[in-house]
Amino acid sequence: MSTAETASQTRPKKLFIRTYGCQMNVYDSDRMADALAPQGYEPTTEIEDADLVLLNTCHIREKASEKVFSELGRLKELQSEKRASGGDLMIGVAGCVAQAEGEEIARRAPVVDMVFGPQAYHRLPDMLARAESQRHMHPSLKKPVIDTDFPEEDKFAHLPAAKKEVTLTRGLTAFLTVQEGCDKFCSFCVVPYTRGAEVSRPVHQVLEEARRLVDAGVKEITLLGQNVNAYHGLDATGRPVGLGELAYLLAEISGLERLRYTTSHPRDMDDALIAAHRDLPLLMPYLHLPVQSGSDRILKAMNRKHTSAEYLALIDKIKAARPDMALSGDFIVGFPGENDQDFEDTLSIIRETGYASAYSFKYSTRPGTPGASLGDQVAEEVKTERLYRLQELVNAQTTAFHASCVGKTMPVLIERVGRMQGQVGGRSPYLQAVHLDGPTSLIGAIHQVEIIGTSTNSLVGRLKQAVAA
Ligand code: SAH
Ligand code: SF4
Ligand code: F3S
Repeated sequence: MSTAETASQTRPKKLFIRTYGCQMNVYDSDRMADALAPQGYEPTTEIEDADLVLLNTCHIREKASEKVFSELGRLKELQSEKRASGGDLMIGVAGCVAQAEGEEIARRAPVVDMVFGPQAYHRLPDMLARAESQRHMHPSLKKPVIDTDFPEEDKFAHLPAAKKEVTLTRGLTAFLTVQEGCDKFCSFCVVPYTRGAEVSRPVHQVLEEARRLVDAGVKEITLLGQNVNAYHGLDATGRPVGLGELAYLLAEISGLERLRYTTSHPRDMDDALIAAHRDLPLLMPYLHLPVQSGSDRILKAMNRKHTSAEYLALIDKIKAARPDMALSGDFIVGFPGENDQDFEDTLSIIRETGYASAYSFKYSTRPGTPGASLGDQVAEEVKTERLYRLQELVNAQTTAFHASCVGKTMPVLIERVGRMQGQVGGRSPYLQAVHLDGPTSLIGAIHQVEIIGTSTNSLVGRLKQAVAA
């Protein structure tokens, strides 16, 4: 591309991306940086240095989406300061708020140059060129570039891959989006509207990206999707392949040592995926399997399409296949109509399942979702009290889980120098942070570590023996 060639000869422009929301946004932010690299943009961690700031936004709860407008207020000031000293700043809003409220953002915040949804990231260089051509127009004539279409073409096929040296700087673990969008329509959730219908990337594309990551030194890959276990990408013969089968294919990549996936829906945990957990040592024994509520009445109103008994039976089946499996979950308290008994049922399912960790949220009414038109909203103080009780229970379970690890020896992926001199830090199979005494030469590989204690939110270990590479 000739524009890229000329751009690369001039001073590199600086790109700052602020990421809100889920892991998929984290992945997307990297892909946006990759898409802008050929345009001469280099990432910076200092917002003041940026020529272009992108906000990668989240719409999942009201609080998350409100942050966008306050951040835009601050960016407007930064832009004025830069202009006063002869510089400039371009501003783009990406992600799920952009998708849901594109026109509204452009109207409320004229400071914005571009507003574009998650399905338009491959068109970013083109949008940027259009926005740049407006730079010197009179403010009254300037119009932000808006792109919130769901394209026909394959976004991923058009997004450039990261250069090997860039991947190297991103660490030993990497995200890889294999599925996007959602067809489940839980009645509280905006994702089917912000990310669109479920789309799975073809198998060869996923394998190619995984190989590229491993070739650049990545040891652990987390497959991402809003509904990742509904994955059904096509293979070379046009046959749909499920997540379980995909895991076996990924397991053949030499040098890939750990595989995770998130987020799963209980209804899509099929036998092939459970068998993969039984058969594949690289598939980590830690599963994020949200249930949201333990009350069948509320589960029905949420349109989750399963009962609490079905969830518990599923957990039994998974643990039968992989006895060392630990679970994490998501819970919503105060869904419309949730009474004391419904909430007690949620506490019961938590007690019965036993989570290594869990995320919990107060129900937030989202415009356009079926939940928004339900009566019988739960009072804010009730939600606060329920959230507190739920978190107390979950925190106790997390503490108990950490304590149960003491005395065990587990493989730890050593990723970095530790907080203290002479220490290194890494992750257990259960994503716990582990600190141990050891030389920095341990970094970059998996080592057997005996867990000898716990500290707040992390484990203390002692090196047992190096695992042969
Ligand atoms: N696809 C995943 C969840 C994606 S959203 C799944 O099906 O489990 C991540 C979490 O945010 C959800 O699991 C839910 O607990 C929470 N969440 C989603 N919408 C919400 C809302 N309107 N109010 C409060 N929490 C919500
Ligand atoms: Fe949202 Fe439900 Fe889809 Fe998860 S499965 S993304 S909660 S609609
Ligand atoms: Fe938020 Fe969109 Fe992820 S709404 S949780 S950033 S899919």
